[in-house]
Amino acid sequence: MAAIALVQGASRGLGFEFCRNILRNKDPGAVIATCRNPADATELMNLVGQHPGKITVLKLDVNREDDVKDAAEHVKRVFGKVDLMINSSAMLHPSGKGETSLRDVSAQGIISTLTTNTVGPLIMAKYFAPLLQKGSGAFGLQPPERAKHHAGIIVNITAKVGSIGDNGLGGWYSYRMSKAALNMATRNLSIELGRSRPRVVCVSIHPGTVNTDLSRPYHSNVPKDKLFSPGYSVHCLMGIIESLNIDKTGKAYNWNGSELPW
Ligand SMILES: NC(=O)c1ccc[n+]([C@@H]2O[C@H](COP(=O)([O-])OP(=O)(O)OC[C@H]3O[C@@H](n4cnc5c(N)ncnc54)[C@H](OP(=O)(O)O)[C@@H]3O)[C@@H](O)[C@H]2O)c1
Repeated sequence: MAAIALVQGASRGLGFEFCRNILRNKDPGAVIATCRNPADATELMNLVGQHPGKITVLKLDVNREDDVKDAAEHVKRVFGKVDLMINSSAMLHPSGKGETSLRDVSAQGIISTLTTNTVGPLIMAKYFAPLLQKGSGAFGLQPPERAKHHAGIIVNITAKVGSIGDNGLGGWYSYRMSKAALNMATRNLSIELGRSRPRVVCVSIHPGTVNTDLSRPYHSNVPKDKLFSPGYSVHCLMGIIESLNIDKTGKAYNWNGSELPW
């Protein structure tokens, strides 16, 4: 059965690049690209024009549970399964900049960041898990033992700064907390969806520091060779995704495939 991939947060940045990469390299049955304002997602709409019949764009604000539910019902009706779901959307902070000290912390800033970056992906998993359980293992590597085969894959795009073990710098309270909590959601999902038959693989992956709007305020601090293009980052991340199997579930990975400490 042809592969069905869903990219949540596909209007720009890495989410858009995932759509482009999968269309170019996988010959999928369909890419379902969700974003909150399709009319403003110019690049994505151009991509639709270049791949007629291959991309379905659905309006989905990850902060609105009804949007997620409606999208899942639509995907169930039209496609009946999802092989890969990538949760890419996130924000650094409503102000566009991470907090540098406690003085900058506001309840509203933290709540908005956690709502989008943590609660959103978990609500996506809630409504799409039944469709991922119907996946045909079109992404990742199936081991020889049938008992170890997986159905779908959930990828939550995390950030290295969400690693508690790796945090030596501090700052960015909202973003760091949102990604640390997202990693906990990944781990929990891997346990629950790893018990079901067929099983769903759930991982967090850090894309490196990538030249997108999210990181733009900090680009001048990043050495040129450490600032990846979205194309390069997604190429690396798709390599990791295509090597996943049930033995690799419940972990966080760096863009180069090494494991990140929680
Ligand atoms: N860039 C980096 O250096 C870097 C490093 C580590 C991790 N990451 C992670 O990589 C992922 C992708 O980030 P990016 O760099 O591609 O950022 P980006 O270019 O700023 O794109 C952010 C995306 O999130 C979407 N979004 C924000 N709030 C949303 C909501 N409520 N509902 C639906 N979509 C929403 C945006 O949609 P609109 O167009 O509608 O605003 C946009 O598509 C994020 O999870 C980020 O944390 C990035």
